[in-house]
Order: sequence, then C-alpha cells, then structure tokens
Amino acid sequence: MPFRTLFDIPTYTQRRAALTDIMGRAASGIILLPGHTESPVNYPHNCYDFRQDSSFLYFFGHDTPNIAATIDIDSGEAKLWGRDASMDDIIWSGPVPSMVERAERVGAAWGGDIAALKTYANKAVSSGRTIHHLPAYRAETREMLARVTGFASADSNHHVSQTLIRAVVEVRSIKTAEEVTEIESALDISHAMYSAALRTARPGISERTLYGMLRGIAASAGSGAHSFPTILSVHGETLHNHNHDNIMQAGDLLLIDSGAESAKRYASDITRTLPVSGTFSGRQKALYETVLAAQLTGIAQAAAGRRFVDAHLAAAATIVDGLKDAGLMRGNTQDAVAAGAHALFYPHGLGHMMGLDVHDMESLGEDNVGYADELERSGQFGLRGLRLARTLREGFVLTVEPGLYFIPDLIKSWQSEARCADFINYSAVSDWIGFGGIRIEDDVLVTAEGPRVLGKPIPKTVTEIEEAMRD
Ligand code: GLY
Ligand code: MN
Ligand code: MN
Repeated sequence: MPFRTLFDIPTYTQRRAALTDIMGRAASGIILLPGHTESPVNYPHNCYDFRQDSSFLYFFGHDTPNIAATIDIDSGEAKLWGRDASMDDIIWSGPVPSMVERAERVGAAWGGDIAALKTYANKAVSSGRTIHHLPAYRAETREMLARVTGFASADSNHHVSQTLIRAVVEVRSIKTAEEVTEIESALDISHAMYSAALRTARPGISERTLYGMLRGIAASAGSGAHSFPTILSVHGETLHNHNHDNIMQAGDLLLIDSGAESAKRYASDITRTLPVSGTFSGRQKALYETVLAAQLTGIAQAAAGRRFVDAHLAAAATIVDGLKDAGLMRGNTQDAVAAGAHALFYPHGLGHMMGLDVHDMESLGEDNVGYADELERSGQFGLRGLRLARTLREGFVLTVEPGLYFIPDLIKSWQSEARCADFINYSAVSDWIGFGGIRIEDDVLVTAEGPRVLGKPIPKTVTEIEEAMRD
C-alpha cells in the first residue's frame, strides 16, 4: 500500500490552486519546494527516522527523501522531481511506484531528476523569472537550493520569498475537515498515552519506564512518531525537560507534555500534570485549580475575531488572581499583568498554531505565523514568548497551555533585583521552591460556534485525574 499516507488527488490540486491564486495576485515565477534528504546519525547508512518537510507534505504529499517539487505560478503547472528507484534501492529498501505514478497520485507531472530540475530552474532564471522558496532550516536543503538555483549555499536564505511565506501561511492556517480528522486521530494516540500514564505513574516508578511506555504507544500507531520530543518529569519547572532519570516519589507532581503524529503526519500536543501519590496535596490542588481556571479562560476566548494575545493576558490575570489567593502575589491584577509580574511564575505564551507541525509553520518564522501584519511582538519577558497573538479565524487549530512554575534560578534572580516587588510576595515564594511546575494543554479548533476542544476528553479536573489514578 505505497500511497496509504496520501489524501485524495483533489486535496493537493485544491491546495496548490489556493496557493497560486494568492501568489498570482502579488507575484509571478516559479515556486520551488525542496523535499528532505535522509539525515545520518553516525554514518551515512544509519539515519534518523525520515520526516518530510511539512510544506512539501501539504502541497505534494509524498513522505519520502530526495524529491523536490515546483509550481509555475503563471500556468499552474505542478511538477515532481526526482529519480526512479534503482535496482539497489529496490533490493535494500523495497519496490516503490515510478516517479510518473507518484506525480500523478498528487495531481502533478513528473519533471525529471534533480539535474533536470536544475536545468529547468536555470532556464527560468535566465528568462527573467523569479524562483520563490521558503526559508531552509536544514543545511542539506540549503545545499539543494544552491545546487538547483545557482545561489551560493550560504546565501540561499537571502533569496527567501516573503510573498510565498505569506501565501503558505494563509493557506495552511485554515484547517479543513479532513485535516481536523487527522489531528483527532493523533489525539486518539494521545488519549491512549495519557490513559497509560494515569494507570502507571506511582511512587517508585521511574520516569524512564513511563517514557518508554508512552513512546511505545506512539510508535505503534499513526506515523509511529512523536510530534516533538516528550517532556516527562517530576521537575516540570524546567519547561522543556527531556531528562527522564528520576524515580517518582510520593508528593511529586509529574508533568507530561507529549504528542503523536497521525498516519498523515498531523500533530497532537497535550499536557497533563499528575500527582504521583494519586491525590493532590492542598497546595498542589490550589495551584492546579488556578492553572485549570486559566486554561478554561484561554479556551473560552479562542474564538473567531478575537486576538489570541487577549486570551493570553486573560489567562495571565487568572493566574495572578490564584497566586494572590495563595499569598504569593498582591496588588491590582491588571497592573500586575501589565508589568509582566506573573511571568516569574508563567514565563511562556498561552499557545501556538498546530497542524502538520506541532508549532505549525514555525520554520516560516514565528512572527509570520502568529503576528502577521497585525501586531508587533512585545519585548517584555514572558509576553515575548507568545508565539500566537493575532486575530483568530474559523479553521485555526491552536493549543491552549498555561502553566505555573517555581524556577529556583529565576526566582533568585528576580528577588535579587526586587523585580516587580510591588506585586510579588518574595518572603512567601521562597517557601514554595521545590514545588515543581504545572501545565495543562489541549488542542482547540476555532469554529463558527466557538472554540471546540479536539479529541476524546482526557482527565483534566482534580476529581477526574484522582479518579483515573484510582482505577
Ligand atoms: N512542544 C511543547 C509545546 O509547545 O507544548
Ligand atoms: Mn505541548
Ligand atoms: Mn504546545
């Protein structure tokens, strides 16, 4: 079943038509999409699992190495480039359909091998046509761009097309029903992962045991891959903690932020925080309820026509209110948020777009995706980490993931400067060092009827989590 990971042909022809329609209003020439090559781990034949570039997947579908694609903006002609498998390739890696069949399967034509692509691109350039390409984030892609276009490799990103970036962001930002179905199938895998986590997390169990279990579940479904390296730690205060060497102890909070990929490589991205003992302590419960209230506030505001920066600020205000109740903050809530005082405990943004990439389209530039022409990114600590700020539109899929953390070095640093001392009760904060971190994350579709949390519900309230851990 060589084509099992592809949508039907019209998906690709319609996506390309939408792209050329937008591009055609502002530019002419050729769109060049280089695919990924294999990436060796420690010698050329021992490679990382292959993963195609997401824009390539979006417009041409094929999840295999050493191919490229072009779209002629003026004629709409779409071509797939690369060579047919050799006998050696077939012996070692198995038979694959011909390039002609592969091109037809995504509604394109075969243009020839990569050398032929170079001739095609050179001819276009010498006849005064522009080559539009996206930023290359891999050295191998820069090299392919250099080879094909004749631009010097180190310079190839100087020729990135801002017009193409904007057009790709516009098309990929709106998820169709079949894309949402894919995301929900990735979320089915997440559901299985968190069910296992709730059954397994106990005092005496190592983080690595649980990490391996979750990895196995992701490996046995969808594309077999995680959508990003799993964060699983009793030290959830380290936002992207990829160390799994601890043994869980009674009283610890375990933070798991993980995602899987559907068969067609769409992402899920879920975070839950569990009490290793099976029940939250009084302190844990109070702050957990605060993060949950912030998350529900953020979700409720993820509606078409509203700016996500406002959802972020509303979630931050909820966090401040909870920290005031816990005796950790004080003063006027809105003033504290405006001063960025909450960022001592909540130093990241509320969420990001999600789709074929877990941070969708981030290779095109965070600001191009999350701010567009609409807003300037803030330079304030905390707020500057907000990846998505712009006005939301129906069809956006995004994450809502507030958190609350006690990061000893950050606390020490702020305290030494008496930073935001009007709003932070530093004498109380020192008593919470060692608490760890809490984050709660779901994936949300913006619909005409309002925000819809995607996927089968995964236990999230204090009661649901404690019940699931008791089963
Ligand atoms: N990759 C971690 C997150 O964005 O949730
Ligand atoms: Mn996450
Ligand atoms: Mn996320």
